[in-house]
Amino acid sequence: MITIKNDEISIGNFRVRELSEKFGTPLYVYSEEKIKNNFIKTLKTARKYYKNFNLFYAIKACNNPHIARILINEGAGIDAASINEIKLAKLLELKGNKIMFSGNFLSDEDLKEGYESGAIINLDDISLLPRLLKYGTPNIISFRVNPGYGESNVGEWVTNAGPKAKFGLKPNHVLDAYRNAQNAGIKRFGVHMMPGSCLLDPDYFHKITNMLIKIIIPIFKELNIDIEFINLGGGLGIPYEKKDTPLDLDKTMKGISEIIISKCTQNKLKLPALYMEPARYFVGDAGILLGKVHTIKRSYSTIIGTDISMNTFARPAMYDAYHHIYIDGKESHPRQKFGICGQVCENTDYWCRNRKLPKTVGEGDLIVVSDTGAYGYGMSYEYNGRLKAAEVLITKDEAKLIRRRETFNDMLKNVELSNEMIKNLTK
Ligand SMILES: Cc1ncc(COP(=O)(O)O)c(C=O)c1O
Repeated sequence: MITIKNDEISIGNFRVRELSEKFGTPLYVYSEEKIKNNFIKTLKTARKYYKNFNLFYAIKACNNPHIARILINEGAGIDAASINEIKLAKLLELKGNKIMFSGNFLSDEDLKEGYESGAIINLDDISLLPRLLKYGTPNIISFRVNPGYGESNVGEWVTNAGPKAKFGLKPNHVLDAYRNAQNAGIKRFGVHMMPGSCLLDPDYFHKITNMLIKIIIPIFKELNIDIEFINLGGGLGIPYEKKDTPLDLDKTMKGISEIIISKCTQNKLKLPALYMEPARYFVGDAGILLGKVHTIKRSYSTIIGTDISMNTFARPAMYDAYHHIYIDGKESHPRQKFGICGQVCENTDYWCRNRKLPKTVGEGDLIVVSDTGAYGYGMSYEYNGRLKAAEVLITKDEAKLIRRRETFNDMLKNVELSNEMIKNLTK
């Protein structure tokens, strides 16, 4: 997504130096073109092998409505994890079966509002069905199945399937779940699975799709259900490290399609629609985080101090996640190992250790953290009085502010201020 010419880093037609001068740092910067291309590539590849294929965007990964708008314009629905994410989808004029509500451990309030929203509700446990039915009988229901096996390239924390995950129905609950839904008068059914996170191996997708199919087909046959859709969730991975082999999307989609088509045909089941709801694959490599070097500390080791703290970008501190780092203007310089930290009073904010970076890095330099479009801004928070970053979208001819930087007043916006505090605030 970035280009480097004479060591100067640009995104589209904009140099990162210009962006930092105009919008400040830390700054999330996204490329409209890259997001669009990622989506179109996924849709085209999948439809080569499975005609009735559609995509939802898991908006949790980057919840700026301007980003979701790009994907919706290309035909995406939205996968929402909460009522507020359903509201975001509605803000973008989506409704009904263009919104998939895949929350987990939902409260009664969530179930009520989810039902009233008209979204497709995708239940994460058998116990949720009677609670949902208190508010009405949905036309269509789906259950998230946890096939008992799961992998992740991000680490154990982000393994969304398998016995250690909190998500989905155990295989031996699936029959009862659909039978209970049928007995309650629900007539239309889908099934959902989230295979894992940042997966780069097509065979893994094939293996877990096979596992899901083996669980659900006998159940749908027994209950005489024509399954309307199979939603294989997200998990399409991107190569964060130079040594990673990118996911072979063609092979992945070909194999998935063949499994579903052959198993449904063998079992004389109508071919369902096939859905996926990726996020990282659309936006992950379409965003960078731009920060500034404030300090070079030569202590027990040499640490580069930046304004990118764990509150701005949580993944390295949270998952020990790798992100490639560039220093603007110095990429061709000789290298040495450095640590990198932010400004928050936690040692986990020493978020990168022993990274080979240009020896000449110094105060005022710009640091570019790559592949931060997914689970970047969306996971950021306010801590130590360090506020949330701004977001900018690069289009063909514009660098457009799509979320302004938080201010001190934003930090106080939910505080019930006393008169004295208000007086002091305006002094
Ligand atoms: C239910 C669900 N669907 C889709 C996604 C998107 O996953 P990814 O970004 O790995 O594609 C997630 C991510 O956590 C999820 O929980």
